[in-house]
Amino acid sequence: MGKVTGLRCPRCTTGYPVEIEGRLCERCRYILEVEVDLSELHTKRPDYFLNRAERSIWRWREFLPIEKEGAIVTLGEGGTPLVPVERLRRDVGGAEVYLKNDTVLPTGSLKDRSNAVAISRAIEEGRAVAAVASTGNAAASVAAYAARAGLESVVFVPEATAPEKVVQAASYGARIVRVQADFDGTARVYGQALKAFGWYSCDSSNPWRNEGKKSYAYEIWADLGGRVPDWIIHPTAGGVGAAACWKGFNELYGLGWIDRLPRIAAAQPAACAPVVRALDAGWDEIRPVEAEQTIAESIRVGSPSTMAWCALRAVRESRGTAVALSESEIERGQVLVAREAGIFAEPAGAVSFGAAMRLAHEGILRPEHLVVVVITGHGLKQPRTGLALPAAIPPDLRLIEQALQVRCRTPNT
Ligand SMILES: Cc1ncc(COP(=O)(O)O)c(C=O)c1O
Repeated sequence: MGKVTGLRCPRCTTGYPVEIEGRLCERCRYILEVEVDLSELHTKRPDYFLNRAERSIWRWREFLPIEKEGAIVTLGEGGTPLVPVERLRRDVGGAEVYLKNDTVLPTGSLKDRSNAVAISRAIEEGRAVAAVASTGNAAASVAAYAARAGLESVVFVPEATAPEKVVQAASYGARIVRVQADFDGTARVYGQALKAFGWYSCDSSNPWRNEGKKSYAYEIWADLGGRVPDWIIHPTAGGVGAAACWKGFNELYGLGWIDRLPRIAAAQPAACAPVVRALDAGWDEIRPVEAEQTIAESIRVGSPSTMAWCALRAVRESRGTAVALSESEIERGQVLVAREAGIFAEPAGAVSFGAAMRLAHEGILRPEHLVVVVITGHGLKQPRTGLALPAAIPPDLRLIEQALQVRCRTPNT
């Protein structure tokens, strides 16, 4: 199990004890990071992990901030396929490209990596009610893990959230609060409710939760047989995925198990791209943007928490980049991933592939590169893709011939 030594501000590096009230730095108000003591791992070799039969994120439990084995709440999250996609090479500048298919996580999105850890921590703390404000995927995930752990859950979602995600959360037994606002407005009232009711929060202000996505790094490293990608491209809203992936690779580097680090690319819709804007403007902070409409609704967050600054830092430190995609680029990415790789992603889940195509077009991805594109959410969560369904026809072979515009091999009878 992981050994937690304290909390630390990612910005000013002030350290705090775990018991501190609230999870913000008292000086800069940034969300604190959990520090896990990895010193014992310096005596180990990679095989210590690689030989384990366990395939969930708990294969890497010494890296994760849960100290009591009995507290672990799991639905088997993690160990998702890293799919080589030869046919998509031409779309990404000839690079060797893999899709990290997180659509197959237990509730269909990357959020399970976080919430398995968040709810396990809730058990360690003896909490009874887990809550979150979400664009939909975290709501479903918190609800599922709370159900698994026997906790109550309350989830806040914007009114316009895809009904599939809300139904999913409700099916796990969550109490649902649909708010007449976009995500940023929903998050504001959620913050007030949290103070008023004292629930255990599973949003990005929870430092334990934010460690779960480090598991990307370990899994990618293991599945590539110890090779390090040149690029990892991640759909970005709150910024936790990109930041945690970077942190995980840095841990492997610190242990001497890898000798170089990947570049991190954060992918956002142009309709709502605060990280891209900060990078382009050279700012050392994320300033809120007005979130415009986008089909990538799960990552429509104009006013992200300070974790988005951690994503910006990951991009800068890794000499990576951040890409703002048009709606048609997002759609094209989603369609290609489905048609050429057999992975049905929601639009937000495949913005990373749209970004890969753009980076190839700009000559940034090249044939000698090894590229991992993280696909973060299942298409069935937001299935209205703009594809028109054909009209139903009577069960008659001749009409099927007409509809499909193919000829029967034998004459019709
Ligand atoms: C499908 C999907 N992809 C990516 C993200 C972005 O996550 P992060 O907060 O790690 O940037 C989200 C967040 O809601 C999401 O639902």
